[in-house]
Amino acid sequence: MTEKKQVKNRILTGDRTTGKLHLGHYVGSLKKRVEMHYKYETFILLADVQALTTHFDKPQQIQKSVRQITEDYLAVGIDPEKATIFVQSHIPEIAELTIYFSMFVTVNSLRHNPTIKSEAAEHSYKDLYYGFLGYPVSQAADISFCKATLVPVGGDQVPHIEQTRKIVRRFNELYKPILIEPEAVVGKTPRLKGLDGKNKMSKSMANAIYLDSSRSEIFQKVQKAVTDPSRIRKDDPGHPQICPIFSYHKAFSEKTSNDILESCQSGKIGCVECKQLIANQIDFILEPMRERRQVYRSKPKLIDEIVLSGTQKAQSIAKETMKEVRDAMGINYF
Ligand code: TRP
Repeated sequence: MTEKKQVKNRILTGDRTTGKLHLGHYVGSLKKRVEMHYKYETFILLADVQALTTHFDKPQQIQKSVRQITEDYLAVGIDPEKATIFVQSHIPEIAELTIYFSMFVTVNSLRHNPTIKSEAAEHSYKDLYYGFLGYPVSQAADISFCKATLVPVGGDQVPHIEQTRKIVRRFNELYKPILIEPEAVVGKTPRLKGLDGKNKMSKSMANAIYLDSSRSEIFQKVQKAVTDPSRIRKDDPGHPQICPIFSYHKAFSEKTSNDILESCQSGKIGCVECKQLIANQIDFILEPMRERRQVYRSKPKLIDEIVLSGTQKAQSIAKETMKEVRDAMGINYF
């Protein structure tokens, strides 16, 4: 057990690079990440290999998204001096560790992973791609290469962290106890609804407000959002529980959301006014992000420099861990 030297908490978290980030990401994970990165050593992964598991036919989209998402991180207030932002594909040790892990993970345990199941349904996969089915194994390697102790994620990722814990436990039993069983840190906030009121906010559903939206884009999108369909006239009593706009009031202005609830249910506030209030609130939240984003846009090389230096730091940690892993497994012949 002496090998388990590391006691300090270390965070690893990340996003698939399939497009820019939206308010759902902000509420579900980014806000918490900004808070936590001041407290704990933090690694943030641009999961471009994992993005390939569903977007292998869209390499340009992935490439563009690596920079867009980095810009989003910086815009929401991640300090690149405090957090290490890095690209997954440039840490070959993650791929190597994935292969070693894959030897003792059963196909059944992956098939029964509830997130894999629901994502496969979303993509209407009749047959599963090998890489897609195995991405929780690669995610276990993402977390293990830097011996992260905490993984802040949305609720849908919990099965993957559970799978990581099992993989690490098995590795430690089989070879040597050098890897860390991480804990998921799950935010309390439920997934944000999309503007269509039906699905969770997501790029693929075209129901999202992006973090780089202008004030007029926010107003336009909010104006078109679905509300309670049974409300025809302004003074009809509304059903805020089913209205995405009300869910935004709850998520973004908790203090006033009780008043909105009452005024909507009693038909005192109409949808137009209610939408204007929330559009203003969203604009207020995005405004400081716009200012930070401008700083980075005015220095286009800076983003690449930040990701490159983060990737180099991650590479050197990956080398150390993989040396330990190979030693533990006896793959150290020369
Ligand atoms: N699967 C995560 C998502 O879709 C992204 C991700 C990849 C991740 N590797 C990770 C998250 C490691 C946490 C830890 O959001």
